Amino acid sequence: MLDQAIEKYQQRVNRVLEAKLNELDDNAPQLKAAMIHGALLGGKRIRPFMVYSIGEMLGADSRILDNAAAAIECVHAYSLIHDDLPAMDDDALRRGQPTVHIAFDEATAILAGDALQTLAFELICQPVEGINPQQQLAMVTALAKASGYSGMCGGQAIDLSSTDTRINIEQLTQLHNKKTGALISCAAELALIAANTSDTEQQIIREFAENIGLAFQVQDDILDITASTEELGKPQGSDEEANKSTFPSLLGLDGANECAEKLINDALSALAKLTYNSQLIADFARYIIARRL
Ligand code: IPE
Ligand code: IPE
Ligand code: MG
Ligand code: MG
Ligand code: MG
Repeated sequence: MLDQAIEKYQQRVNRVLEAKLNELDDNAPQLKAAMIHGALLGGKRIRPFMVYSIGEMLGADSRILDNAAAAIECVHAYSLIHDDLPAMDDDALRRGQPTVHIAFDEATAILAGDALQTLAFELICQPVEGINPQQQLAMVTALAKASGYSGMCGGQAIDLSSTDTRINIEQLTQLHNKKTGALISCAAELALIAANTSDTEQQIIREFAENIGLAFQVQDDILDITASTEELGKPQGSDEEANKSTFPSLLGLDGANECAEKLINDALSALAKLTYNSQLIADFARYIIARRL
């Protein structure tokens, strides 16, 4: 059931992304090709999965979630393109393909990230029946905050300044919450904005998403050590080689695994209070720490 839902939503968001990218004119063909490379070649699409699965659970039609799902994936794809740049993690492999700056060049990779980021906001602002301008404005604000200084970019900055130094677990938790948790929480937030539900239910879903978001990055740190380059489609050992602060480097592998499990248990405990049928997102929560990719 989870596998089928993951595939269904992957296909759904891919169709939206393909249509949007293919309709761009061909005046800057290299940039367009780099955007397609960074956004369409692989990727689990877990953020769009959250937009769709949470939104539909709350009664929203998937048609009104399409642009939000595609938008958050555009921001994510941009963050990966920049994360791999020589000035950041300096990685050459992503989703089993050469990273964008390797397949193209650095300037094109920077611009492809920039253009995917702005495309995200264009997508959200596109008129859609069933979403009003006030909801769109709320989505723009949520996505901007989660992506910028207070979210992903701020987290990436702390990540870079925490490299080659020892930070404590509170600092590392804050770093991970910002660089990865914020965008994952935003996926839930976009669903909440599209659907209408009570404040209590909203709070529960936020608590769920926060735990999932942190667990997702803890597992990413674990996989950097325990999975192979072939499984990951990105270079195994990248964190160790760069001397990054990660959960396993601070807590050891067992400590990191325990931490991820606790976070998922907390996410599931939150869901137990929900009055909707949360079977699918509960299965998704378990998948976050069971995944090998
Ligand atoms: C990788 O994200 C970077 C992190 C924020 C941990 P994903 O694991 O979602 O990457 P893709 O989109 O599936 O390639
Ligand atoms: C990246 O974290 C988080 C982003 C905001 C892109 P990582 O640097 O650990 O992601 P991977 O392992 O390269 O995918
Ligand atoms: Mg990084
Ligand atoms: Mg990286
Ligand atoms: Mg990583």
